[in-house]
Amino acid sequence: MCGITGYIGKKEALPIVFENLKKLEYRGYDSAGVAFFDFSGDQKLVKAVGKLGNLEKLIKDEKSLPTMAAIGHTRWATHGVPNEVNAHPHFDCKKEFFLVHNGIIENYRELKDGLMKKGHNFRSQTDTEVLAHLVEEYGFDLAIKKVIGAYAIAAIFKNEPQKIYIARLGSPLVIGVGKDGYYVASDPTALAGLVKKVIFLKDGQRGLLALNSIKIGPARPKIVPLEIDAEQAKKGKFPHFMLKEIFEGSEVVAAALRGRIFPQKNLIKLGGLEGVAGKIPKIKRMEIISCGTSYYAGMIGAALFKELANLPTETILASEYRYARDPKQNNTACLFISQSGETADTLAALKKAKERKYLNLGLVNAVGSSIARETDAGVYNHAGPEIGVASTKAFLSQLSILSLMSLYFGQTKFEKNSQTARSLMAELVRISAKIQLVLKQSEAIRSLVKKYAHYKNFLYLGRGYNYPVALEGALKLKEISYAHAEGYAGGEMKHGPIALIDKNFPVVALVNKNHLYEKMISNLEEIKARNGKILAIASIGDKAIAKLADDVIYVPETVEQLEPILNTVPLQLFAYYFAVAHGNDVDKPRNLAKSVTVE
Ligand code: AGP
Ligand code: GLU
Repeated sequence: MCGITGYIGKKEALPIVFENLKKLEYRGYDSAGVAFFDFSGDQKLVKAVGKLGNLEKLIKDEKSLPTMAAIGHTRWATHGVPNEVNAHPHFDCKKEFFLVHNGIIENYRELKDGLMKKGHNFRSQTDTEVLAHLVEEYGFDLAIKKVIGAYAIAAIFKNEPQKIYIARLGSPLVIGVGKDGYYVASDPTALAGLVKKVIFLKDGQRGLLALNSIKIGPARPKIVPLEIDAEQAKKGKFPHFMLKEIFEGSEVVAAALRGRIFPQKNLIKLGGLEGVAGKIPKIKRMEIISCGTSYYAGMIGAALFKELANLPTETILASEYRYARDPKQNNTACLFISQSGETADTLAALKKAKERKYLNLGLVNAVGSSIARETDAGVYNHAGPEIGVASTKAFLSQLSILSLMSLYFGQTKFEKNSQTARSLMAELVRISAKIQLVLKQSEAIRSLVKKYAHYKNFLYLGRGYNYPVALEGALKLKEISYAHAEGYAGGEMKHGPIALIDKNFPVVALVNKNHLYEKMISNLEEIKARNGKILAIASIGDKAIAKLADDVIYVPETVEQLEPILNTVPLQLFAYYFAVAHGNDVDKPRNLAKSVTVE
């Protein structure tokens, strides 16, 4: 999604704002702009469509006055095509002030009609420009009260050059409290290395940053430490954030479990759920609600809750849930899974669940994010910032914590843990080391990709716990390599997709030694009979598979509930090297955004 940023302080604001825009690039955008006070003290506006380099060319000789405010924006268009006019900042009729906005003004049409009747002239097709004219007509505070929708806003006024006005509702906004001034940004990654303390604005909070003061209300702001350091937000020795984050998979699983699992005592501790532990035994059903990769994690989570906590659980896409005409049901808990904690569909689904007074839980990576704050309780991934648009380490972390949560629910319901629960607990503490073993095959997978890089279509097959892994593996491939890939339940192949199989349509199959192994072998035989090419993910020690599959990537054996964690790693690496082989922008794939904060 887009990014907004701003700075007011002793230093020159423009270079700081531009550097912050670069740190927000990974969120995905189509145009950018800045507004600042130049050396004459005049407000200046510069915008450009396309990558930040185009904007940089236009401002490289500009000098902004120290102690004067500046704001910047990377836009991901929702209303109005990506072009210079529609790029932010937007301004009022008299160019008395500029503002940048992340989100959607749902009622912009009627507001615009009303303002045009009052004589306001609009230049762009955007919903955001309505905000500028609203502020001109009613002043900042009253204007934002007229808005229905989501916004994170920063605005600077000609007659108040040492102030930045801010407000947020639904879209994220964080304030950096620094020694040399105040920063505002859409997410803390942009503030890494600049400040040690931040304020995560809550919905409905607004205020202003001045040279030596900060005023935020109505709720009192809470200053918290910034957990991301500059190093963490950098790629390190890796060519892409995505590869770095795939290789962080082992440590993020360890981080997810740290201080939460005690196999010797057969105990799981989840501090974030302690406040609602008393309510859990009364829960009779669970809805897991999320999007994209987090949805596939939710599918595995549902199987875990059913098996380990004997809890009827269903997974629902947030974009479906928010509009579904479904009956409210008693004794229901909803679990919202979101890496960014800002996904608009998931937030909207949470709003619906809150209206139903369900027990609403979060599984979120971004500390202080909206979903984390809006749920009744929850568990943080503590996976660190995930910069690559394709989610990798967060998914492994989600699966680890879903195992913990299902065990936690089980232990609050049953006197004694089942054998399955005890085996899962014992294996969970070993899985981080097993991921390391899989990662050691990275170079082998990289060379294997050369045999597949020319194919345009793939079928991914899995059963049971590995059916969602087939879906996730296919998503990884398509979202960064743009090849077509379809995830399917192995048992469904004969109900249609088998018609696709020929020598130009390879199949990636998850064939671990588990209770569905023979069924997957039958799938492979059907594919072979149609000259299909097979890349199998199989258990170390399985000799038979090599006779059937053209290529095999072996993963360590583990309990069935944790196979998804080990199977996903080679699929992430396969997708990564496939995309690199095609020269794609792996960390910022076309049309995609890291956090989809608009509908
Ligand atoms: C993941 O690879 C995708 N980029 C995307 O599907 C993502 O999982 C989805 O947008 C949900 O994001 P969230 O976890 O931040 O809510
Ligand atoms: N809705 C606004 C626009 O289309 C802002 C989109 C964004 O968040 O970047 O310009």
